[in-house]
Amino acid sequence: MKLGFLASHGGSNMQAILDGCDDGWISATPAILICNNPNTQAVERAQLADLPVRILNGKTHPDPESLDHAILDALTNARIDLIVLAGFMKKIGPLTMAAFRNRIVNIHPSLLPKFGGQGMYGLRVHKAVLEAGEIETGATVHLIGSQYDEGPILQQATVPVYPGDTPEALQLRVLDQEHQLYPDTLAKIARGEIELP
Ligand code: GRF
Repeated sequence: MKLGFLASHGGSNMQAILDGCDDGWISATPAILICNNPNTQAVERAQLADLPVRILNGKTHPDPESLDHAILDALTNARIDLIVLAGFMKKIGPLTMAAFRNRIVNIHPSLLPKFGGQGMYGLRVHKAVLEAGEIETGATVHLIGSQYDEGPILQQATVPVYPGDTPEALQLRVLDQEHQLYPDTLAKIARGEIELP
């Protein structure tokens, strides 16, 4: 199973998956990182791991359809089986969506369908969880559907909310769980324990 990562920022989830592939937890081969932003930790992490990187964005391809095409070409040339979204802040174009139907996984830092949808990213998710008075939150790995944070849920992990929690503290606690949940889900997909439609 060849993995193609799409990331925009830190890439800590990608790192957890790279490590999982490296130590044999996940039977998969990371094949490419596509990043829209050249100056990110995600790019640094990929370079350190000898993972080929392509920078593709609105500057390299001002026309959205040609950008979609370029992303699809890069993934196809790398013979990707599964697209792994790891903090990718852009919408996937229709060509890539169609070519990788049910083969695009994402992680979201809440227990979807709660606290998902447009505008729900980063600290906003954790602020909303605290404002709603939830006693538990978590992370969700899911397939990408046509809308934000939609598509079949593959696995979830729960995280307690403590009295006095700040959004930042909650974000760190959830991220820690993400680094277990995402590699675990990919390992199960690779072993056939989680079947994709
Ligand atoms: C994570 O919180 C993930 O749930 C969300 O974006 C963040 C990415 O963090 N989709 P990182 O780039 O993997 O460090």
